[in-house]
Amino acid sequence: MKNSKFNEKIIVALDIDSRQKALELAQTLAGSGCWLKVGLELYALSGLDLIDEFKKLGFNIFLDLKLHDIPTTVEKTMRVLVTSGVDMINVHCSGGYEMMARAAEVCHKADKKIIGVTVLTSMGGAELPTIGVREDTEEQVLRLAKLAQRATLDGVVASAQEARVLRRECGPEFLLVTPGIRPAWSEKNDQVRVLTPSQALEAGSTYLVVGRPITMAENPREALENLGN
Ligand code: C5P
Repeated sequence: MKNSKFNEKIIVALDIDSRQKALELAQTLAGSGCWLKVGLELYALSGLDLIDEFKKLGFNIFLDLKLHDIPTTVEKTMRVLVTSGVDMINVHCSGGYEMMARAAEVCHKADKKIIGVTVLTSMGGAELPTIGVREDTEEQVLRLAKLAQRATLDGVVASAQEARVLRRECGPEFLLVTPGIRPAWSEKNDQVRVLTPSQALEAGSTYLVVGRPITMAENPREALENLGN
């Protein structure tokens, strides 16, 4: 795969505690074709303004706020978020059908993608019963992904380990956005079950979320260009 095509599948997670550092990193990566992911920390620091700065640099933006509230609150918040240059937003699937469907309607009218978070990978199988979930993790992930699909979401965020079964069960068009990606040359950091970029794509991932292997690299642009190696 040529690098620019490959880079279009990479979402760089900007888990960075400074607006200035985030902008500098974005400038380094500009023109590569990759996406940027803005999470809660950077959003709390910079709000929607920074998203528009990134947009001017030519990036597609995934705003990872994982909304989860009553349907009216989520819908009204979405109406505000879609006025920015964001391209993809997410909600927690456990907010239920109505919350997802109303959020999706707002996003789709504004020509934005919306995806759902199924089960947080930080929550191991042993923890699910403590919040009243009796199913095993994979069953619960599938149940929530199917509910998201029925509510017209475009896809889900899921562990790359779950990509194969989700691809099989949810069809070829469903977006699978997968973190937990490490090229063979990089540190695992605190990720435990990791897949390489080519393994994740082979398992059916649409987009790969990659943070520290790029953001902590001495030369982030070079790290991005070497990701497929
Ligand atoms: O630095 P690293 O590549 O581990 O970053 C992965 C990104 O994906 C972080 O922003 C992390 O919060 C996010 N993420 C994750 N696992 C999930 C969901 C999101 O690592 N299940």
